[in-house]
Amino acid sequence: MAPRLFLLLTLAALLHYPAADAQRRQRQPLLTTAYYRKSCPRFEQIVQDTTTNKQISSPTTAAATLRLFFHDCFVGGCDASVLVSSTRFSKAERDADINLSLPGDGFDVVVRAKTALELACPGVVSCADILAVATRNLVVMMGGPYYTVKLGRKDSLTSHASDVEGYLPRPTMSMNQIIQIFESKGFSVQEMVALSGAHTIGFSHCKEFSSILYNYSRASESDPAYYFEFAKSLRNACADYKKNPTLSVFNDVMTPNKFDNMYYSNVRKGLGLLSSDHALSSDPRTQGYVELYAKNQNAFFQAFARAMEKLSVYGVKTGRAGEVRRRCDAFNN
Ligand code: HEM
Repeated sequence: MAPRLFLLLTLAALLHYPAADAQRRQRQPLLTTAYYRKSCPRFEQIVQDTTTNKQISSPTTAAATLRLFFHDCFVGGCDASVLVSSTRFSKAERDADINLSLPGDGFDVVVRAKTALELACPGVVSCADILAVATRNLVVMMGGPYYTVKLGRKDSLTSHASDVEGYLPRPTMSMNQIIQIFESKGFSVQEMVALSGAHTIGFSHCKEFSSILYNYSRASESDPAYYFEFAKSLRNACADYKKNPTLSVFNDVMTPNKFDNMYYSNVRKGLGLLSSDHALSSDPRTQGYVELYAKNQNAFFQAFARAMEKLSVYGVKTGRAGEVRRRCDAFNN
């Protein structure tokens, strides 16, 4: 080939960014269920044993881990960025204000599984995959639906507290704002309602709903969206919350230790805790789904499983976009 023609062709190839980009994207490895079949055949069993033991010894683990996973995925994808500890130089995601209430049990179950996996197959299994599978196993242990978790996520190379604000819903947000957060990540109103069914387990601290419990308005001490007697008992239970900020209440007062569709029946009756829970049953965009899931647990389980499967691949990093951390709380370098 004439040198000038060769030069022109090379230049053309170099300048043709979009095609090169598309090719690179296509070459990014996809997640698969068989990812560790050869490199760490005992992966599933080790995570299963760890989650079972941890949940038996600390029954708050399931809810803690489910919320931890949601908070990880919604900030930059399911990449274990929420597990990284802050350093003198950098405040990490887990120290963002909204994440300070994430209980230690969720972090601990991942650390335990990671320790066992590093002994069995060092440097192979990512913290992001462990968190995704542990969450699924714990949902199932509580009586919730099984869903497939594909594998091959890499762990993030960054974690900044400043990236969190605005990416996670707060109970004081309007339904418009909450829907907007979910839609900006590709989750529909229906998926948002289904995922909120996670509040069928776990706790909320009194401060998260104190603004609708005390001094609500001139006419009413608490938000009239609460069932009257329920508000009264919540005011009692939380009476000391300013002195004792650890005071908390079950999210699902009827069946707190079971993953079922009771959350939706509760919110319909004014037995939800958070302002955002009440809003689900009053907003015309979400009301219909609340009715459906309250009546039909199968419909809820199917929708929840599908939405969790989608959440668990949201924004994942593969190939060289991340690393397999040696410890889940620190980057390798
Ligand atoms: C729709 C908007 C949502 C809002 C406003 C919201 C807000 C909250 C708040 C304020 C708490 C109490 C935290 C505490 O006091 O420690 C909480 C607990 C919890 N949330 Fe949500 N959440 C939402 C959606 C979700 C989703 C989508 C999931 C999971 C898929 C989830 C899972 C949980 C779990 C399991 C708990 C209990 C945590 C524990 O017991 O440690 N939430 N949520």
